[in-house]
Amino acid sequence: MTDFDGKNVLVTGGGSGIGLATARRLVEAGARVVIAGRNADRLNAAVKTLDAEDRVLAVPTDVSRLADLDRLSAQIRERFGQLHGVFANAGIGLNARTADVTEADFDQVVGTNFKGAFFTVQKALPLLAENSSVVLNASWLVHRGMATGSLYAASKAAVLSLAQTLAPDLAGQGIRVNTITPGHIRTEMFDGVTGNDQVREFFRGQVALGRLGRPEDIADVVLFLLSSRSSYITGQELVVDGGLVGSVPA
Ligand code: NAI
Repeated sequence: MTDFDGKNVLVTGGGSGIGLATARRLVEAGARVVIAGRNADRLNAAVKTLDAEDRVLAVPTDVSRLADLDRLSAQIRERFGQLHGVFANAGIGLNARTADVTEADFDQVVGTNFKGAFFTVQKALPLLAENSSVVLNASWLVHRGMATGSLYAASKAAVLSLAQTLAPDLAGQGIRVNTITPGHIRTEMFDGVTGNDQVREFFRGQVALGRLGRPEDIADVVLFLLSSRSSYITGQELVVDGGLVGSVPA
């Protein structure tokens, strides 16, 4: 019996990248997993690759829309009854100088990264069993300034702050809330934001361990935070970045 037998976990942005890798690890560990994401085709493809249809529920959801989150909760309740974990991971990047950011960019980035995380947790609350665990996904950019990152970084700083205050807010129900802070992880988002191999090589050179991260590098740590092995950790941030934030490139 593993730590996740009989446990139900929601992963937003679960159709690709870090979310899909986490869903895969959870399925391997015995959990039932709900993957929610904006792109229905991608979710359907993800369900196939997870190869455990009886334990996977895919719900097309835009986390910035409260009506979608209500529908998601209703479907989770109907299929699995309750939740024991949430990974609020859905997010979008934006690589733009402050002068070029539009109101639409602002609403989309803040709507997905911050509003989405906030209401993903709020709407999951009635479903969360005692001693559940919530993990939010921030970014290394909350610790370092980058000229083209003002909007994205601020949206992720809000996520980090949210976890810190949700921890005492939800502690009475035994619910723990922590943040994972990834460094450079090779996913569709990373490839889109970096644009070409020359830029990716520059980013790799900033990492003390000398390699870009894999989605599984994050998924393994998310599983730790979701599991009872981290039962005395709440309100904390775990930076998983190969030594990006804390080191000076050699
Ligand atoms: P990804 O692009 O593969 O995954 C993002 C997922 O979120 C996609 O499946 C997308 O469909 C979903 N999504 C986007 N907007 C949504 C919305 N409004 N509603 C529901 N789902 C939505 O990229 P990745 O890298 O796996 O990103 C996952 C998280 O990790 C994001 O929050 C990102 O900000 C964060 N992150 C990623 C880093 C990296 O280097 N890849 C670094 C630091 C943080």
